[in-house]
Amino acid sequence: MKAVVKLGGALFGRDPDPSTIKHMASALTRFVDENNQLVLVAGGGENARTYINAARKLGAEESTCDLLGIQITRANAELLRVAFEGETAAVSARSLTRLPELVRANGVVVMGGLQPGQSTNAVATLAAEITRAKILVNATDVDGVYTEDPKKNPRAKLLRTIHVGKLLELAMAGRVFAGRYELLDPLAVKILERSRIPTRFVSLSNPENILDAIKGKDMGTLVVYD
Ligand code: UTP
Repeated sequence: MKAVVKLGGALFGRDPDPSTIKHMASALTRFVDENNQLVLVAGGGENARTYINAARKLGAEESTCDLLGIQITRANAELLRVAFEGETAAVSARSLTRLPELVRANGVVVMGGLQPGQSTNAVATLAAEITRAKILVNATDVDGVYTEDPKKNPRAKLLRTIHVGKLLELAMAGRVFAGRYELLDPLAVKILERSRIPTRFVSLSNPENILDAIKGKDMGTLVVYD
């Protein structure tokens, strides 16, 4: 079975914690050891936003800020690749070309960003499409999609499902600036929509959640297409 997991930038934080990253890699290795294949896409998180803000203040335009963000996501992906050493062979990819062969041959492929104007969520959807993944798990610092931002309103409710049309509405209303792509960016939603990729939003906080979601457990928020 093939799966793609987007690991939100919160996994790495401002000061990446080796034991948290190792714990994630060890848990995900169990899935790969059962003869499965995994593409992991690392988000940029706080460090991407810090670098992007500094570049913007220095006068950089948005594409340059995006390129800087991509470098940070790739640095995070590299931390993951290193964390897999000694567990299983993981390789890194910087393009979608040959991704299906790479993941078939190596079991685990780590990726960061690809090109300006999008977020790593778009990368994850494209990786899921091209590898014909059975599931895309989007792991973030919240345990699913809420009616409102649960950090701002504690009464916000967790949605068990969300229609792809609603995701597009949210993506189109969000801002498309470097470091500020919210929930999903428009490209990510359009890719989900055209290939109807089974997608679930879950929490990053416990790697076991991610394994359960990969195996089809009903948790977090599922994207629905009908
Ligand atoms: P992220 O995808 O991490 O954005 O990429 P994010 O919204 O901060 O997501 P999380 O919360 O960390 O998971 C960081 C920045 O890198 C650039 C964008 O500027 C993005 O905001 N980027 C990333 C690209 O321009 N292209 C890509 O393919 C990926």
